[in-house]
Amino acid sequence: MIDDPCEIGAGTKIWHFCHVSKNVRLGKKCNLGQNVFVAPDVIIGDNVKIQNNVSVYTGTIIEDDVFLGPSCVLTNISNPRSQIIRRGLYEQTLLRRGCSIGANATVVCGTIIGQYSFVAAGAVITKDVPDYALIIGVPGKQFGYMSRHGYRLQNPDSDGIRRCPVSGWRYYEEGGVLRCLDLNEDSPMFEK
Ligand SMILES: CC(C)(COP(=O)(O)OP(=O)(O)OC[C@H]1O[C@@H](n2cnc3c(N)ncnc32)[C@H](O)[C@@H]1OP(=O)(O)O)[C@@H](O)C(=O)NCCC(=O)NCCS
Repeated sequence: MIDDPCEIGAGTKIWHFCHVSKNVRLGKKCNLGQNVFVAPDVIIGDNVKIQNNVSVYTGTIIEDDVFLGPSCVLTNISNPRSQIIRRGLYEQTLLRRGCSIGANATVVCGTIIGQYSFVAAGAVITKDVPDYALIIGVPGKQFGYMSRHGYRLQNPDSDGIRRCPVSGWRYYEEGGVLRCLDLNEDSPMFEK
């Protein structure tokens, strides 16, 4: 079911039993699996993959290249009460470019999920997640970093460089912020 008005980019695929609400902006080449609900006013970038049984509530902003695993849960009110109407007081949750949310994970609203971070299956996110961080458990705690290619980054070399064990791409942490040193225009993961 697609409500009017909404924008759906070229090449986006929407499978069975989905509902895309009004004023949604859904980018190009996205994939919505079975039973996905997108609430009014949600903004979703390009090449976003949303697996089966996910509800994306108002207040959520999803940047390009994000992956939402099956049955993961996003939220938009941190203290819901049936008798108190909080419609219009939704809290914002920002999923930054390239992050992955594992199956059955829960993201408590008001958080920013960093670029290319990786939330393990079943984890519960209660605070902001740094770029490239791997978060596991309830409540979610950081266990090192994941590369853009989705592999755990090794401990830093003597020169402070961490490498992806599969792609060989190099990463460097400075001031608590991890950056990738191997981006170039030939790469499909070129920084937009
Ligand atoms: C987080 C993840 C990437 C870790 O993978 P990994 O680096 O290969 O980790 P390992 O399997 O070697 O496990 C390392 C330890 O972490 C634990 N662990 C792994 N995943 C975990 C999870 N999701 N929650 C809690 N603990 C986890 C393992 O039990 C193991 O513990 P141990 O050392 O005490 O035995 C992976 O388990 C995961 O959650 N992937 C997401 C899968 C998913 O949701 N896919 C969606 C699309 S279908």
